[in-house]
Amino acid sequence: MDPILELNGLSKVYRGGLKALDNVDLSVRKGEIFALLGPNGAGKTTLIGAVCGLVRPSSGTIHAFGHDLATDWRKARSRIGLVPQELSTDMFEPVEHAVSYSRGLFGLAPDRQRIEEILRSLSLWEKRGERIMALSGGMKRRVLIAKALAHEPDLLFLDEPTAGVDVELRKGMWAIIDKMRARGVTIILTTHYIEEAEMMADRVGVINRGKLLMVDEKDAMMARLGRTEAHITLAQPLATLPPDIGRFPVELEVGGTVLRYRGGDGTGKGKAEVAELTKALIGAGIDYVGIDTRESSLEDIFVSLLGDGEVPQ
Ligand SMILES: Nc1ncnc2c1ncn2[C@@H]1O[C@H](COP(=O)(O)OP(=O)(O)O)[C@@H](O)[C@H]1O
Ligand SMILES: [Mg+2]
Repeated sequence: MDPILELNGLSKVYRGGLKALDNVDLSVRKGEIFALLGPNGAGKTTLIGAVCGLVRPSSGTIHAFGHDLATDWRKARSRIGLVPQELSTDMFEPVEHAVSYSRGLFGLAPDRQRIEEILRSLSLWEKRGERIMALSGGMKRRVLIAKALAHEPDLLFLDEPTAGVDVELRKGMWAIIDKMRARGVTIILTTHYIEEAEMMADRVGVINRGKLLMVDEKDAMMARLGRTEAHITLAQPLATLPPDIGRFPVELEVGGTVLRYRGGDGTGKGKAEVAELTKALIGAGIDYVGIDTRESSLEDIFVSLLGDGEVPQ
């Protein structure tokens, strides 16, 4: 299937010489949720800006819906929606008016029914007459989404849709994104919340210092780079490991009271090995009082990929 969005060798050097995007190649498929994950300053907003016509690329090409944006920007633009990172909308406007106006900007005929549907789906219908400034932070963000949906885009960018919103609202936002996906909208979201990428995305791209370090199916990325970690709390401290235990990838910690297992890298077999390890412990007459096992998350993968001490929040 043809990609809905294709970036080739995209670079952006800002005045002053900062390279915010460094030779980025990316292809996004119709109907997927693609999460662009990276710490602050990685280049996420710049990438979105380049596609949405807000940032002029220094080199490289962008094709959206088969149109080269350098020459055919208008044809693609009407099919792209953007929910910006910053709340940048006229705060004095009433909700419904702001959303209708956004639709009009794209030359679409007014459609009150469509606007009502959008506002209802975002639980904003009751607030339609209120000024945006009177709304809570989460509601303001939903108004931005409604504005971005008003012209019925096929490709929607959400730049840090949940930055600064509380956990409840974040979950509400995820539900909204899911609904949009169900309607067939292709979604590219940026986030520095790993949990968000883990929850929402079909594919994840990791970006740092303008470089796209890795792009993969979320599940494949986790299976390939994931590992299992287990903390086994021993009943009695151990001074050394018996050979039958030492053959596992384990270390003694906390004065010999905790046996830490780290293994199963990329094989998905860590859990089975931990089970084997517990049998070996019993066989060696070593008592334990607790086991805490966890599969590594995208977070571990992310931190190891960045690998320069720049740990995201
Ligand atoms: N208009 C600009 N002029 C100069 N530098 C910029 C501009 N916008 C962003 N930057 C810099 O480019 C880098 C990437 O920024 P940005 O794309 O906003 O990252 P992110 O969205 O991942 O936090 C940062 O170092 C940022 O300071
Ligand atoms: Mg940003």
